[in-house]
Amino acid sequence: MNDSMSTSRRRFIHSSSAAVASGTLATQLAFPSVTFGKDLAKKYKIGLIGCGGRGTGAANQALNADSNTEMWALADMFPEQIEKTANILGKQHKDRVNVAPGRRFTGLNAYQQILDSGVDIVLLATPPGFRPQHFAACIDAGKHVFAEKPVATDVPGVQSVLATNEKAKQKGLAVVSGLCWRYETGMRSMIKTIQEGAIGNLVTCESTRYLKGVAKMAERQPEWTDLEYQIRNWYYFTWLSGDFIVEQFVHELDKMSWLIGSYPESVLCSGGRISRTEEKFGHVFDHFNASFQYENGLRYHAGTRHQPGCDGTFVDRAYGTEGVANLMQFTITGKNPQRLAKRRTDMHQLEHDSMYSLLRQGEVPNNGEYMAHSTLMGIMARESAYTGKELTWNQILNSKHRIVPEKLDWNMTLPVPPVAKPGVTPFI
Ligand SMILES: NC(=O)c1ccc[n+]([C@@H]2O[C@H](COP(=O)([O-])OP(=O)(O)OC[C@H]3O[C@@H](n4cnc5c(N)ncnc54)[C@H](O)[C@@H]3O)[C@@H](O)[C@H]2O)c1
Repeated sequence: MNDSMSTSRRRFIHSSSAAVASGTLATQLAFPSVTFGKDLAKKYKIGLIGCGGRGTGAANQALNADSNTEMWALADMFPEQIEKTANILGKQHKDRVNVAPGRRFTGLNAYQQILDSGVDIVLLATPPGFRPQHFAACIDAGKHVFAEKPVATDVPGVQSVLATNEKAKQKGLAVVSGLCWRYETGMRSMIKTIQEGAIGNLVTCESTRYLKGVAKMAERQPEWTDLEYQIRNWYYFTWLSGDFIVEQFVHELDKMSWLIGSYPESVLCSGGRISRTEEKFGHVFDHFNASFQYENGLRYHAGTRHQPGCDGTFVDRAYGTEGVANLMQFTITGKNPQRLAKRRTDMHQLEHDSMYSLLRQGEVPNNGEYMAHSTLMGIMARESAYTGKELTWNQILNSKHRIVPEKLDWNMTLPVPPVAKPGVTPFI
């Protein structure tokens, strides 16, 4: 390992440790995470925008995290989603679900209406294409936010999230991210131990996440407009999901960014679609393979695919001069062999526990920067794969390419973009 690598690594470690020490993560360990039984002055009224699987889970976890919370309002594009969520939460938290019919909002403007309903904290769990707009509206309205990952699908969206996050800091509003691995106990020990030198100096990192795909798909009904069809099948449209290297793989990109302590200088990513060829799959890809390069020469190889019938795998490994860390197994082999955890903790619960614990102590958690930058890293790789070009961080940061329509209308014509063709699709 040369000197410049060591110097950069020290800087990486410093910045990562600073992030850990600066609030959420450090304090989460130091204080009881659940506040049941304490004398708490303020009842937090919670609102949820996006009553799907994850939103309902997040609402449940928010209610579990703190006894002085109440589910107060629900918003979703579709009324049946709201009813489903209200029923599930009502069974889990009988006395603390108080969502009167007048506080159930539907349609494209539901996210604005919920903000006038008296909520203190808003959970954002719609498809990510809407996140920048919803996040901005929440912070403008003075609400604390829990935002599911990813937080945008295009660069203007990421820039908007970064600007909104600055406003949140000025206003003293919490911003907690659904990048849940940052709250997972074993993963936190792994990252800390590697950063303290357990595998020597980092040489290269690897993430491979191969899955069969996603099950969610709704057949188009004759009465559905283009917009309704795409929102009901949001996963397959890049403006809504970001494509799966952003939507799902952002977890892996974020884990490794946390470990490395910085974001890449450039990426060259390949990708395409072989299994997802039918029209019903919209225009997203089904495989990506990225090689990220860092300023100190470190390389991070990251591949993900969604192809049924193929073997699956899910690994994050860091290779150092003195050993190898298998992050998902919590193991280190080489000079300092150890196993740091036997099983995963409930990271989706821990992120909410931490949020309420900090708020109750008068602290304001803020995960805004990493949630935006890890999203950007996914977008950078996707755009490299779509165009076939090697892209730098600065190039992507300055992209003005907006893929989320500026104004949405229920009846608008919304053609499906062609599947990107590497070498032909231009970088904008
Ligand atoms: N952190 C994690 O581990 C994790 C796991 C799963 C999903 N997620 C993220 O959570 C988000 C939601 O995923 P999901 O699996 O719950 O999807 P889902 O399809 O189950 O739910 C999305 C909900 O949002 C609603 N919706 C769509 N557009 C809306 C709008 N403009 N306004 C209001 N409601 C709208 C839909 O009707 C639906 O009920 C995604 O960003 C996803 O990436 C995170």
